[in-house]
Amino acid sequence: MAKIVFANWKKRIKTEAEAVDLARATDAKNIVLLPPHEFLREVGAVVTHAELGVQDHAPDAFVSGARYTLIGHADRRALGDTDSIIAEKLTLAVYDGLIPVLCVGESRAERDAGQAHGILRHQIKEGFSRLGRLGIDNPAVYVAYEPVWAISAGADAERCSRETAAHRIAYLKEQLLHLGCGVKAKYLYGGSVTSKNAKEYLDTKDIDGLLVGAASVNVEELKTIWHSASKS
Ligand code: PGA
Repeated sequence: MAKIVFANWKKRIKTEAEAVDLARATDAKNIVLLPPHEFLREVGAVVTHAELGVQDHAPDAFVSGARYTLIGHADRRALGDTDSIIAEKLTLAVYDGLIPVLCVGESRAERDAGQAHGILRHQIKEGFSRLGRLGIDNPAVYVAYEPVWAISAGADAERCSRETAAHRIAYLKEQLLHLGCGVKAKYLYGGSVTSKNAKEYLDTKDIDGLLVGAASVNVEELKTIWHSASKS
């Protein structure tokens, strides 16, 4: 079955013309485009196969055509999104009818101190802690494992191995059940995914798709990643 690819453009696309061109060139099923918020409507107007998402909670996301929202991305956590803010944003997103993508991941220092599992457990427990208020049975969510040390790491930097990604995602799956988070979750891997390494992650049973940053604004890169995902 085809796996899903989330294209997190971040702020890399600067103009509406660039956004529309990139969207047209990468419009395909099982791709979720996450443009900068200011281009959401324009991108939505030109795609027919790809779905849309926002890079962070936004009250107008659903009416602007988005189906997904990232929550708790490392960039947002670095800008001050606390556990409490993340739990609130996630709950609001589900209330608005969106599918949240809760991003979790340990820093390099946390990994080196042997704290990765504790951090992941804490982040999912807190992230989903307020959902119960909505009274929705098992809402659909994605959990993206994005080790902070592997995000936009550059060509020569250390990369998260397929084994580590698989191991951490298996742990997240087990904990989500154990903690009784009450969600129907799918799992993504993100962190320096490129056309060269995408297949390794996609071949991992527990990984349902990829969250791609830098490579997602390069048409050829994204198309190659998408091809691998559609054959997975
Ligand atoms: P990257 O970004 O693919 O450039 O590492 C991933 C992300 O931040 O979502």
